[in-house]
Amino acid sequence: MSESGFDLVVRNARVATASDCFDADIAVRNGRIVSLGSGLASGRREIDAAGRVVTPGGVDAHCHLDQPMAPPLRMADDFESGTRSAACGGTTTVIPFAAQAKGQSLRAAVADYHHRAEGKAHVDYAFHLIVSDPTPEVLENELPALIAEGYTSFKVYMTYDDLKLDDGQILDVLSVAREHGALAMIHAENADCIEWLTKRLEAAGRTAPRFHAHSRPMLVEREATHRAIALSELVDVPILIVHVSGREAVEQIRWARAHGLQVHAETCPQYLFLTAEDLGIDDSYKGARCICSPPPRDKANQQVIWDGLNDGLFTVFSSDHAPFRYDAPEGKKPGGEEVAFRHIPNGIPGLETRLALLYSEGVLGGRITLEKFVELTSTNPAKAYGLHPRKGTIAPGADADLVIWNEGEYAIDNDRLHHAVDYTPYQGMTLRAWPGMTLIGGDVVWDGQNFYPRQGRGRFLQCGRPTLRPMRSRP
Ligand code: URP
Ligand code: ZN
Ligand code: ZN
Repeated sequence: MSESGFDLVVRNARVATASDCFDADIAVRNGRIVSLGSGLASGRREIDAAGRVVTPGGVDAHCHLDQPMAPPLRMADDFESGTRSAACGGTTTVIPFAAQAKGQSLRAAVADYHHRAEGKAHVDYAFHLIVSDPTPEVLENELPALIAEGYTSFKVYMTYDDLKLDDGQILDVLSVAREHGALAMIHAENADCIEWLTKRLEAAGRTAPRFHAHSRPMLVEREATHRAIALSELVDVPILIVHVSGREAVEQIRWARAHGLQVHAETCPQYLFLTAEDLGIDDSYKGARCICSPPPRDKANQQVIWDGLNDGLFTVFSSDHAPFRYDAPEGKKPGGEEVAFRHIPNGIPGLETRLALLYSEGVLGGRITLEKFVELTSTNPAKAYGLHPRKGTIAPGADADLVIWNEGEYAIDNDRLHHAVDYTPYQGMTLRAWPGMTLIGGDVVWDGQNFYPRQGRGRFLQCGRPTLRPMRSRP
């Protein structure tokens, strides 16, 4: 034991939080930050971070790991590979989804999901719920009880046959969120419009992956976003619209804010770095790799998303990691076949690349400040889902979850990533930074080259109530 009693001191750090950047040493004891200051006494272990930025570990509040799927589909990442990949990309807390199947009790879905996570996670984790069957039992008993037990957020879908709720059902679950202080996340796309367009595309023989984007134009997202906002206004409860893709949904959210409504929004890397062309410019099946919903749009819409990140429209920046192997019968080629786009599982991998993409192209690219980066990737997700101030900041009392950044050329190559997916949509992109070190509870889990696992490191976190400050409307 050192005289100071510090287990670790990270020295000469350029500490970045959501509100400030300053130079300090960071002292850690028993997995928590205990002191920030200059010239702190020596610790049992010392890390020199001179000249390097240190941010709080990332909180990825939207990722899918080992989520039960209808056979033959299966997610590539379970809690082991998914959280390994998270840690090597600087993310130290993940919040995937305990998804209720129709006819299943919510409680059973949560129990099953705990079983899938138990002993496997390398980073701390909490659960959102997915409510797909809001029976009276779910609304009156299960959901209120689960919220009280620390599952304080849930997602509802306006699309996908096996998950979608109608407007009346959404109103019912929003009422529970209001009464019990939970945060509802909404996947906003109009299911009937998508089905109508899909049938017409199929009748015309247009079934290649690129037509996925044609079946989900921005207006289906715009209409559903507008409706979700109206439903939340009726119930008088905050909501968070997930994976916002472009201008038309952004306009709806700006309108809601201007009317004083508490509408939060999330966006993801795919809406900054991919376009619909990544789903194919011809009928090649390779575009299946970038099929996700809503689909990526175009360059002009990428700029709209950058503007929203910069000016406060977006509350959180998540990966929406939904990992399916490309060349696999349980993945993008169901049963081993190249199938019509409606049968291709939706979702792309992104847990490991989320932070580096935004740090490189956002912060070092001069598009957002370092403080904004921390707010979007760590502090706000921790606040939105009731994990702050234990997570999401660098301050005495917080868990010593830290990222020490390396600046320099880094070419994204799937062979260097740690997920179990056989591709990355960002293959070949050259970034200006990558996490040089990730610490969880003061332990080094990634040193820029190697991953250091420890059985049972990742702990389950009960979430509290959201602690985001109410938004002011734009002038
Ligand atoms: O395409 C996507 N986004 N897949 C993951 C599931 C979801 O809707 O977030
Ligand atoms: Zn979704
Ligand atoms: Zn998702």
